[in-house]
This record gives sequence, C-alpha cells and structure tokens, in this order.
Amino acid sequence: MCGIFGCIVGDGRAAPILVRGLKMLEYRGYDSAGIATIDGGKILVKKDVGKIDEIEERLLMSELPGKIGIAHTRWATHGAPNAVNAHPHLDMHSRIAVVHNGIIENYLELKRELMELRYNFVSKTDTEVVAHLISHSFSKHGDLLAATVEALRRVRGSYSLAIISTASPDRIILARRESPLIVGLGDGAVFAASDVSAFLERTNRVVYLEDGEVGVLTLNGLTIYKLDNMEGVSRKPVTLNWSIEAAHKAGFPHFTLKEIYDQPLTVREALRIQEQYADLIVEFLDRGREVFLLGAGTSYHACLAASYMFSKLARLVTYPVVASEFVENFGNAVGIDTVILAVSQSGETIDTLNALEYARLRAATVLGLTNVVGSTLTRISRAYILQNTGPEIGVAATKTFTAQLTVLAQLALRLARKRGKVSQSEIDRFKDDLHNLPQLVSETIKSVEPEVKSLSDVLSQAKVLVFLGRGLGYVTSLEARLKVMELSYIPSIALPAGESKHGPISIVEEDRNVVFTIPRDETRKLAINNVMEMKARGAKVTIVGEDGDSEVAELADHFVGVPKVNYLLSPIVYVIPYQLLAYYLALRRGLDPDKPRNLAKSVTVL
Ligand code: M6R
Repeated sequence: MCGIFGCIVGDGRAAPILVRGLKMLEYRGYDSAGIATIDGGKILVKKDVGKIDEIEERLLMSELPGKIGIAHTRWATHGAPNAVNAHPHLDMHSRIAVVHNGIIENYLELKRELMELRYNFVSKTDTEVVAHLISHSFSKHGDLLAATVEALRRVRGSYSLAIISTASPDRIILARRESPLIVGLGDGAVFAASDVSAFLERTNRVVYLEDGEVGVLTLNGLTIYKLDNMEGVSRKPVTLNWSIEAAHKAGFPHFTLKEIYDQPLTVREALRIQEQYADLIVEFLDRGREVFLLGAGTSYHACLAASYMFSKLARLVTYPVVASEFVENFGNAVGIDTVILAVSQSGETIDTLNALEYARLRAATVLGLTNVVGSTLTRISRAYILQNTGPEIGVAATKTFTAQLTVLAQLALRLARKRGKVSQSEIDRFKDDLHNLPQLVSETIKSVEPEVKSLSDVLSQAKVLVFLGRGLGYVTSLEARLKVMELSYIPSIALPAGESKHGPISIVEEDRNVVFTIPRDETRKLAINNVMEMKARGAKVTIVGEDGDSEVAELADHFVGVPKVNYLLSPIVYVIPYQLLAYYLALRRGLDPDKPRNLAKSVTVL
C-alpha cells in the first residue's frame, strides 16, 4: 500500500505541496520516497530511501522548480527498498514519469517482451514496466492519453497511477484499478492522491475515480473515461467534511475497523504472489527432512492453520511452533536437512529472529513469509515471499492475518501439485475458491456486523470467555481468543473442543459464555456433541457457523452465520466476526481498539 500524489498549481511551485502531501501519506508506506516535476521541458527527479523528512533534509526535494509534479511514498512489494527502486520511474527517454500503487501481475512477461525490444530496465520494480510500456505506445501515437490507455489494456493487476510527460506538461494522466485514487479540485490548483489527507489542507472538493477509469487532470478540471471503450464519464465533485485524522482512516473511526474493512482488497493483493518465489519456497519445503512453521501471536496461528492445509492438501506433515519455544523444544534436532518457514508480519519479531539465528548456525534452511521487504526476516531468509498487505496501523493483527493465510493456502496448493497429491479437478476447484475469497470476505463483513454489534452488548460484561472449536475451527478459536483478549481485556481461553472435557469444563457453570466456531466440515458432528456438553451445564452458547446451518443455529443462544467457504480457507472468513467482536467489545468497554495497553505493534524485546 504505497501513497501516490500529484498536483498542478497555477501560481507558485508544485514541489513544496508535493512534499507536504507525502508527509500526510507517509503512514501508507515509508521505506523510500520521491518526487518528479516538469520544468524547462525536462523531467526533474529526486528520490531516495528513508523517511520523507530525512530525504527532504538530504535532497531538498521541495526546491525542485515546476508547476506540475507527481510524488510517491513506498511500501516495497517488488524490489528492495533503495534509491533505484523508489518512485517516480522514468521511461528510457526521460520524457514520461510514473508513480504507482498496486501490483502489476504480468510484469515479468511484459518486461521480457520490452527487453527484447531493447528497453533498458534500471530498477527491480513492476512499475518501471508501465513507464516503458507507455513510452513504447507513445512512440507510435504521440499522444499521452492514447498511449496510457493502450499500455494499460495490456496490464493485469491492481494500480492507481499518476503519469506526467514533457510532451503534455499541463496535465496528469490518472488511472485506477482496485487501488484508491481521489482527485481534489482547489482554487488555482488541482490534486490527485491515494487518499484525501494528501491535499485536504487545500481543498475538500473531491471526485473519486472508479475501477477501470482513466482521467486527464488539468487546471481546468478532470475529464474521466472508461478504459475499456473510452466512453466519457460525468461525475460531480462531492464536499467532504473530514479532519485529517478521519481522512487517514478513510472516514472510519479507528484504524482497526478500517483495516478489517480493507480485507477484500488485501486478500486480493495476497492472491498476487510472485510465482517464482512461491515455487522456490515450495521446492525447499518439499525437500526438508522435517519442516517447522514458526511464528508468534497471530502469526503463530497462521502457522497452525498452514499445518492443517499442508497436511490435508499436500500430505506434508509440518510442525507449527511458537517461536519463543523453538530452541528449547527442538534446538538439538535442527540440522542441515531442517527447513523452517517463519511467518512474521513485521519481519522483526525478536522471538522469531532469535530462533532463526540459532537454526541458521546449524545450517538449516530458513524461509520467510512477511509483509515488510527489507525487514530482518527478508535479509536472513534463503527465500521469502511477501503478503502485499501494506502497513497495518492498529496493534491487533487483522488484515495481515487473513493475507498470511491466503498466501499459505496458495503455497499448500502448489505443494500439493508438486507432490502429485491432488487431482486436476481438485486443483481447479481450490483455485476457484481462492479466486472467490475477496468477494466472500466482503460479503461476510457486511452481513455479520449488525449481529456482532448486538452480541458485543451481551458479552461486554462477561468475566471470562471460552472459545472452542475443532480442526481449523480450533485455529480460528485461538485467533478469536487473542483478538478479544488483546482489545477488550476480557480474560479468555481457547481450546480444541475435544479437550474441554479433560479439565477446563470444570469452569463451566450457569450462564458462563462459551463461543464455538463450527464450519460445516467433518468435525461438525463432534463439535455439536461438545455444544451439548456445555449446554447441559448451563452455559450460554454463541456459535459462529455456516449460514443456513439450522441444526447448529438452533442449539445456540446467539448464532452468527457466515457464507459457505472451502473448509481449508475457513479461518479467513470465520475470523471476521471475531475481529469485529473484539473491536466492538473494546468500544463498549471504553477502550481504544487501536492502542491496547502494554502492547507494541512489533515486539523486539525477548
Ligand atoms: O510481526 P509479527 O507477525 O511477527 O508479530 C507477531 C505478534 O507479535 C503479533 O501477531 C501479535 O500477536 C498481534 N498483536 C496480535 O494481534
């Protein structure tokens, strides 16, 4: 999730406005930044790695001349965070500059093609492909809009783009597919950005670009076309009465809620994994004598879910381990044949890194799944894969969890294929199910929220909450417990439902709240028995189950239904009511859901 910004000013210079806008967008990504302006028939660029203030101090970006410019703050997905990979990117003739937020899925294929045509690539980014592709079309058409349209018709993936050219120095070409892009219409100045916070100090009259649209922004206003057929689109500006803070949160009251709502998009981005790295990881996983899956907190839960996916789909037995316990439990067994897949959103969790350092000294193969390119995990891993979620600001992991699971499910599928463990029809079905996930996630968020809100009224005074499930329902219960406990501070336990009768059932008494996760799978029958055990002891039972599962719904005091989903992907959908429950419980209890006490986003102490 990078931040892009562009502006044209009637009087004065664009650069100081661009730098100020970048500061406001910095929360969207902050590993490198840059700006490009046009002056005297030339594109001028300043960009570097680091925080915006540091880059500004070093390079004085705001002193660039010119009335038009584009800017970018980066959250790396393709290519390490460094000055060369920082945006803007130029074509070979330095006549076109591009900033981009999103992922170009077919960039390798396009890059190969362009290289054969002798286009010279300087960066490792997917974005540079767009600059060269537009340049290639521009050489034929001599028209920037037509060239952009022709280029984008060949691009697959997600993007919001702002493009300037010395050939049309009075306009910014804009395009949007799945990544946000908003235009601001001010007095004597116009703007376009990933979110309104970039220009809200100057105007609150905005026009939202929609998916599949391109726009031409000049000082006279915005003209919008459909990319497919270049039909004109007319759209009136709206006036927003948002504070900067509300703008950062896209109008949501808290980052946690915004990030829960981001999930249809972030799951989609997680489906855009870089195939060559996924294959490399699968190759290593397949070769290991034993495979450990290592993580802390929510990332450990992702590991646990992955162990079910790997064994059920690919028949590969793996050992999910809490990172801080790894050395003590398995250290002596680690050797050259050991493979470890570490999962860490931040890539900086010290418990995880310590375990990996130990394993590396014993020549084990370390692999990583993370959200942060350039993090320690990416530097010490033999191979790593990115989840493409963008920064998560709420301390509770929400969108990063569902994205981790989405990537792990794709690894499981590739592994199954490589090991010859699934039929073509199963592969196709699973692919379809993966493809439908963003839609399912979106439906789930919308459908469960009212029910969950009223459930939070019921549960907010509970002294203790018990979460139970079987199989992947158990994994979801663990994550539910963590979310609820960290945001609402209600003491909670989570167990495999079958374990409760081996001790913990003794805490169940009249009106004790017990929450079950029961997908419609082969564990459902036994889970129903466990519900009966709880009811017999007077517990108040809440069940998160499949929409239309009336047998289960009738047993519950409170039932939250979610759409039907492939069992192996079920935690991605079933966790959503719990994320919302944790959020609303925090609100009911007067707590700040974004900043739970005693916790840090990245835990770097032992
Ligand atoms: O950055 P990581 O994924 O390694 O972080 C691991 C845990 O600290 C993290 O998941 C933590 O449990 C979250 N606050 C849970 O919401």
